[in-house]
Amino acid sequence: MMNQTLAEKVAVITGGGSGIGYATAQRFASAGARVVLVGRNIQRLDEAVQRIGNNATAISTDVSDEQQVKQLFDQLKQVDLLVTCAGGALFGSVEAIGLPLVRELFATRFFGQLAAAHYAVPKMPSGGVIIFCSGVADIVGLPFFSAGTAIDGAINAMTRSLAVELGPRGIRVNAISPGLIDDTNIQTNMSREQLEEFTDTTVQAIPLKRMGRPNDVADAAYFLATCQYVSGLVIEVDGGWSAT
Ligand SMILES: NC(=O)c1ccc[n+]([C@@H]2O[C@H](COP(=O)([O-])OP(=O)(O)OC[C@H]3O[C@@H](n4cnc5c(N)ncnc54)[C@H](OP(=O)(O)O)[C@@H]3O)[C@@H](O)[C@H]2O)c1
Repeated sequence: MMNQTLAEKVAVITGGGSGIGYATAQRFASAGARVVLVGRNIQRLDEAVQRIGNNATAISTDVSDEQQVKQLFDQLKQVDLLVTCAGGALFGSVEAIGLPLVRELFATRFFGQLAAAHYAVPKMPSGGVIIFCSGVADIVGLPFFSAGTAIDGAINAMTRSLAVELGPRGIRVNAISPGLIDDTNIQTNMSREQLEEFTDTTVQAIPLKRMGRPNDVADAAYFLATCQYVSGLVIEVDGGWSAT
């Protein structure tokens, strides 16, 4: 019999057109959820919707723009699950990094996640779930990644605060913290060669000696969506990297 654990649930997944968000959307849809994929590139979202099938729709939104986030949630009557994967990455030494780029990253990866929660929570019934997306840099101390690290730490701290705040309303709040994940479209300011070198070096430091896959992260997201007694948890999906 097909898994229908999430039947009748409406899941909004930002960054749902590719990578971790897409894998999570696929997983939730295969468990019966109606998934709303959110991103900026409508063509990519439409292609993702077609691959997922009947249970999926797309709404084009730039999550760094609060008005667009408001409009997104204005269109929805109820939100049972919110997963916020929209974002990219920014590398660079502290003296060289462009502060406007740092502000842009915060606008998407921090304020985008907070704005989504801000507008989704009023539409969430008891039983609702928020799953934020941070990153392992909060723990491992990754050089040349100060902005992303600050966002990861802020998201994990916000996760615990909101879990305590929203628990009495029956809303669970957790975060997935990916390590190095392959097969995504992640946008960075590194050249292909730099990215390959970074990846090769980093994989050596990961106990499982491989990059993760979007489905590895989707497994964690599915667990957080369905385990009814977990709140305030940050799950590191990192091949053991944060344990080193
Ligand atoms: N891959 C990793 O190793 C890794 C590790 C730790 C954390 N993360 C975090 O995990 C999240 C997902 O990354 P991923 O690796 O799956 O990369 P990805 O495939 O590029 O997914 C990110 C998605 O976010 C969307 N997006 C970016 N900026 C947006 C904006 N302003 N408004 C709306 N949508 C936006 C992109 O679509 P559009 O361009 O169409 O908007 C894209 O579909 C990111 O926040 C990333 O920082 C990734």
